[in-house]
Amino acid sequence: MDKKKIAVLKGDYIGPEIMNAGLEVLKAATENQNFDYEINSVPFGGEAIDSEGVPLPDRTLQACKNSDAVLLSAIGGPKWDNAAKRPEAGLLEIRKKLNLFSNIRPTQISEAMQDYSPIKIEHEVNFVIVRELTSGIYFGTPRTKSAAGAVDTMSYSTGEIERVAKVAFDMAMRRNKHVTLVDKANVLATSKLWREVVGRIADSYLKVEFDCSYVDAMAMKVISEPEKFDVILTENLFGDILSDEAAEITGSLGTIPSMSVGENGPALYEPIHGSAPDIAGLGIANPISMIKSVAMMLENSFDRGDLATRINNAIEVAINKKVVTPDLGGKSTTTEVTSEIINNIRESSDNYATNNV
Ligand code: NAD
Ligand code: IPM
Ligand code: MN
Repeated sequence: MDKKKIAVLKGDYIGPEIMNAGLEVLKAATENQNFDYEINSVPFGGEAIDSEGVPLPDRTLQACKNSDAVLLSAIGGPKWDNAAKRPEAGLLEIRKKLNLFSNIRPTQISEAMQDYSPIKIEHEVNFVIVRELTSGIYFGTPRTKSAAGAVDTMSYSTGEIERVAKVAFDMAMRRNKHVTLVDKANVLATSKLWREVVGRIADSYLKVEFDCSYVDAMAMKVISEPEKFDVILTENLFGDILSDEAAEITGSLGTIPSMSVGENGPALYEPIHGSAPDIAGLGIANPISMIKSVAMMLENSFDRGDLATRINNAIEVAINKKVVTPDLGGKSTTTEVTSEIINNIRESSDNYATNNV
């Protein structure tokens, strides 16, 4: 069997702590499972600024392009806030250069998670945010800053909207057949274009219910009626903000993974949160976001939904047993949560083997 090539960008501050956890779980979940892989760990973000002077060295980009999937942990932090080119610029650059225009950020509140939510959850919550990732105000020009003023530009082409909208509608077809477009079409020209273009695409997916919401109202609905959504499609900046908000209703930002995909080439998997400098080095970072990113990779890049399910079930068991880090109100360390998840995976594999003899 051919070896899958995984590029690993371990990140800054809590980045390496949770990446180690993710890689340990990858090893445990794939043991004796006819899944062979090799890791190519390359510098990125703050680490790469320190060692090579830029956040995205050319060899790192090439290693990612030559891989079957990219695993990335969080980058950035105060150490590089005044760098000529910050780690965050490297993140935008890698997304752009790998053409990862759609970013999938799931929010799911299972029964095990309901107690951890800061809001009262009475129905199952299970939606995904499809965030446009390589355009909008993050990339538009002109972008200028002087003592007298500053300019950022939000721009979108029809083609950029169409391709990510198709990802959202195709995803809805595999889920609960409902797409909600989030925009600010009562004000912004780009949002007006989004409504027109996405409206036309919706016409060709007759089985998918389609509606629109202004982003300010959506910020409210994520809290007041999260169970109503299935696929939320939105532009880059709104998606960034809404996905952190949505994460928080699961109990912690530290539980949410993501997947970024383009037309071809490797997909990239990363937690949605940042490098959490405030808790780095304390050994208490929640590894679930990274471990779920590993599961997403196994399912989507390697067609091993079976292994992803086993990892996700093992996470559920850990949560049910309240073996969780302090962000979820627990007392466990990153290492303890990771070991618990690995034990649960091994136990489920043993049961699986016993049941199938
Ligand atoms: P952050 O997401 O790092 O942290 C926000 C809060 O959430 C903090 O209190 C942090 O402790 C907590 N948190 C985040 N992840 C956690 C985890 N796994 N376990 C427990 N608690 C967790 O946001 P920030 O503090 O605004 O940003 C810090 C740095 O990260 C900045 O340099 C920012 O630009 C960068 N950043 C990077 C990414 C990325 O790499 N994709 C994403 C967001 C922010
Ligand atoms: C994210 C982050 C990044 C973004 C930053 C660090 C550039 O917040 O991945 O959500 O805004 O996309
Ligand atoms: Mn963000």
